[in-house]
Amino acid sequence: GKFEVLDHPLIQHKLTIIRDKNCGTREFRQCVDEIAALMAYEVSREMPLEDVEVQTPMGVTTKKRLAGKKVVVVPILRAGLGMVEGILNLIPAAKVGHIGMYRDEETMQPHEYFVKMPSDLANREIFIVDPMLATGGSAIMAVDALKKRGAQSIKFVCLVAAPEGVEALRKAHPDIDIFAAALDERLDENGYIVPGLGDAGDRLFG
Ligand code: PRP
Repeated sequence: GKFEVLDHPLIQHKLTIIRDKNCGTREFRQCVDEIAALMAYEVSREMPLEDVEVQTPMGVTTKKRLAGKKVVVVPILRAGLGMVEGILNLIPAAKVGHIGMYRDEETMQPHEYFVKMPSDLANREIFIVDPMLATGGSAIMAVDALKKRGAQSIKFVCLVAAPEGVEALRKAHPDIDIFAAALDERLDENGYIVPGLGDAGDRLFG
């Protein structure tokens, strides 16, 4: 799988707004939502098309429509929830699967506490969404959980990625594509991304 930074100017601009520690909850939510939509637009560029006959008021013609698998958006709770609506704005027919995970603050190990997926994961195109890819532990465990349930086509979409997390996720799951709005410098000793944007879950939900 590839790793790609989606650095559209609007994405960069909005990301800079939410990095600011003085950005309040309301603006933070709004920008996460908008960035997620812009990322969905970029990621969906690769969706396959097929020919379809359409009768316009002027006659019959052959044009394109989406051909591929149906999309499932899978937010990693809690922070991933902030990205769901923005993506559904562009892909309104997508299903949503939920996976709950928290990272133990001392060991930095992820713990899974909730999984509820739509049926037939094997035949769907899955976007796992989470604002942060830090050590990569949560992302790796989320992909494990989905593969265990049959998922075959998975993309991971995050706002800010640490090089350590990208490396770990690619190593554990070489078949998935990773998209980030930014690749930051590093992790600090507590596993926070530097410069990052702080704790996305807390900034979204308190
Ligand atoms: C954060 C973040 C990711 C995870 C990233 O969640 O949203 O899920 O940590 O860290 P990792 O790559 O090192 O696993 P957190 O545990 O703070 O839970 P929350 O979203 O419920 O606040």
